[in-house]
Amino acid sequence: MKYYLSYNDIHKLVKSIAERIAEDNYNPDLIVAIGTGGFIPARILNTFLNRTILTVGIKYYDENNQPKEFPETIQWIDEVEKKLTGKRVLLVDEVDDSRTTLEYCLRELLKHNPEELAVMVLHNKKKEKKGSIPEEIKRYYAGEEIEDMWIAYPWDAEDIEEQDRSSKANKRREVSG
Ligand code: G4P
Ligand code: MG
Repeated sequence: MKYYLSYNDIHKLVKSIAERIAEDNYNPDLIVAIGTGGFIPARILNTFLNRTILTVGIKYYDENNQPKEFPETIQWIDEVEKKLTGKRVLLVDEVDDSRTTLEYCLRELLKHNPEELAVMVLHNKKKEKKGSIPEEIKRYYAGEEIEDMWIAYPWDAEDIEEQDRSSKANKRREVSG
């Protein structure tokens, strides 16, 4: 069973998260997007927050979709102290799955002493996690808590019309139970 989402689903989900961030009075100075899954969510979020987006590249799965021994940094932030120290940062990724990449990235960012570091993901899978969220992290926003299944994001689709049909079929199943 795959969970298919359209671009509109993603946009609405991000908007709902932006509203929660506002209600929470969290006012980040900047967004850090984890590539590649975090790029599009971060960009949509920025329609509501209007901040600077920095990107980092971390790869945990190899070309054959097998997890590597540990996450690998393939891109990091220039003049990182200047950009992060004393700042309120919001880290964005698409999915909290095993939590390995998230934990790794959060710990790397915390080394630069941001004033606050918060996390936003579109989806958190309810499952046993390999990584953990460091205790310095007080705000964690997940658009949706879901069972452990494969999420088919629209940006991975080769046929976007088929993706839309599948996302609609998903919703009909939900309605009819
Ligand atoms: P986590 O810390 O966020 O839980 O991530 P984890 O280390 O478990 O690795 C997550 C990798 O697996 C990410 O790819 C993520 O995109 C992908 N992934 C996990 N579950 C799903 C899912 O249900 N659907 C999709 N589409 N991807 C999933 P990555 O190595 O970061 O590469 P990229 O795709 O972000 O470039
Ligand atoms: Mg990713």
